[in-house]
Amino acid sequence: MKIDILTVLPKLLEGPFADSILKRAIDKEIVQVGVHDIRKFSKDKHQKVDDYAFGGGAGMVMTIQPIHDCIESLKAANEYDEIIYMTPDGEQLNQQISNELSMKKNIMILCGHYKGVDQRVRDHLITREISIGDYVLSGGELAAAVLSDSIIRLIPGVLNDETSALSDSFQDDLLAPPVYTRPADYNGWTVPEILTSGHLKKIEDWRFEQSVLRTKERRPDLLERGKKH
Ligand code: ADE
Repeated sequence: MKIDILTVLPKLLEGPFADSILKRAIDKEIVQVGVHDIRKFSKDKHQKVDDYAFGGGAGMVMTIQPIHDCIESLKAANEYDEIIYMTPDGEQLNQQISNELSMKKNIMILCGHYKGVDQRVRDHLITREISIGDYVLSGGELAAAVLSDSIIRLIPGVLNDETSALSDSFQDDLLAPPVYTRPADYNGWTVPEILTSGHLKKIEDWRFEQSVLRTKERRPDLLERGKKH
């Protein structure tokens, strides 16, 4: 899989892919992540990538030309399944969307800044718009990193123990059960006995019960959603 991220702040995207699971996935060549500086495509003599909004109002708007040229140069080399714009008014990211995107071959992610991009970019170049939640970030970069992380960890071979992605919270509309590790007794704070009993079937049942309980308490909306499909 290839993920190409378009940004005016490429440095912001250096950290998330330089460590741990995402770095390993890149090193193993399971995924390729390209970060592209939109400014390099600007035909303006000062390499400007934004301008005042028509009609006035505070805040700059990202211009079409550098974004269009950056997208076209990438499209000349690859076919893209989705060209995603990260924006707080997009569809809200959830595990189902990440699952779906993890099965694609190539995706492009455009990060917005300032007051966002010229609406014509969204109308003519973008195929999907995604938000990571009802709050506003300074730009789309952190949101693009969140989206990429949630997708990449689902690609087969990225996690060592493949079942561990399947048992994540949300995979089956349930939150994950509590987990414990050694020591079994820490200053009198003990681990549920069942977990040290060695009864695998009973442990599995206990985990399922705990998942349901936790979901009922914390996210009853997920159980309602689960009933619908
Ligand atoms: N850009 C700014 N805020 C965002 C959000 N909540 N989700 C996605 N992109 C964003």
